Amino acid sequence: MSPRILFSASEAKWHEYEGHLRHSLSAAGITAELSPDLGPPEEVDYVVYAPDSDVQDFTPFTRLKAVLSLWAGVEDVVGNTTLRVPLTRMVDSGLTEGMVEYATGHVLRHHLNIDHALAHQSGNWVRHVPPLARHRHVTVLGLGVLGAACARALAGLGFIVAGWSRTPRDVEGVTCLSGPEGLEQALARAEILVLLLPLTPGTDSLLNAAHLDQLPPGAVVINPGRGPLIDDEALLAALDRGDLGHATLDVFRTEPLPPEHPFWAHPKVTVTPHIASETRAETASEVIVENIRRCEAGLPLLHLVDRDLGY
Ligand SMILES: NC(=O)c1ccc[n+]([C@@H]2O[C@H](COP(=O)([O-])OP(=O)(O)OC[C@H]3O[C@@H](n4cnc5c(N)ncnc54)[C@H](OP(=O)(O)O)[C@@H]3O)[C@@H](O)[C@H]2O)c1
Repeated sequence: MSPRILFSASEAKWHEYEGHLRHSLSAAGITAELSPDLGPPEEVDYVVYAPDSDVQDFTPFTRLKAVLSLWAGVEDVVGNTTLRVPLTRMVDSGLTEGMVEYATGHVLRHHLNIDHALAHQSGNWVRHVPPLARHRHVTVLGLGVLGAACARALAGLGFIVAGWSRTPRDVEGVTCLSGPEGLEQALARAEILVLLLPLTPGTDSLLNAAHLDQLPPGAVVINPGRGPLIDDEALLAALDRGDLGHATLDVFRTEPLPPEHPFWAHPKVTVTPHIASETRAETASEVIVENIRRCEAGLPLLHLVDRDLGY
């Protein structure tokens, strides 16, 4: 029987994904019914899912085999008690490429002090030669798919890179740390800190006043992970005291970031509107279809979310 696949995301996403999903299904030899409107939920086998979509109660989906998230971050769906089937998160080569470009670009901005050059175009010949990357310490919190790829790329540029994760990891060219003492070491050396942790009860407000205090003077924070990883008040206070040099923030506790939020006007904050990276329909469709193929063949799914850990 052909699997029935509900595409549960915005209309714009349907237009972006439909052709790629159909192409990937056909390339995998899967005959399936695919639609954003499949009729009765009890006849749906798979939900391709954006956690902000209309489907929030999975109870009527009585024959569901899996929910395949279009997003890498699953904090908005992982606690849904009506979802009792396997949940996969998005691991997409296009998403990873985008995040590597964002992280390296913003690290290089601060490393090379590009802002200084942009602010001094007044005819003054003032030479500030930046150090080499091999003299600059960068720390990446989170050594998963995205964090490890960014850490590897930064190490490839010559930076002295440390990474921190929940369990011990091994990333070539990167000093890998874990556990509470590991975090202390990772923060103490972070001239530039990149946050690529998922949002879970264990990471919520991880970058609080005490942890911000452990960063070297003038450190720069780059957060393309999730907004609530940072205690906003503590961050603003550290910037205002001059303890921190700058914060480049892509994600926020409230999105869109409200116009009156102090981040917008702060001279030491750069806001990017959650554009660090995006799932790319072409490559993401291949991942979704591969998981459908595996499930239909009775094989284990890729990129399963651990519901207890929250990521
Ligand atoms: N801004 C954007 O455009 C954008 C786009 C995509 C994703 N994101 C964010 O990026 C996050 C990371 O994505 P990913 O694909 O790299 O996730 P991932 O592969 O699941 O990796 C998560 C990493 O965080 C570590 N971690 C989790 N909980 C921890 C804890 N309590 N203490 C220490 N380390 C912990 C994990 O440790 P272990 O290795 O030990 O498991 C792992 O190294 C996503 O969850 C999402 O929030 C943002």
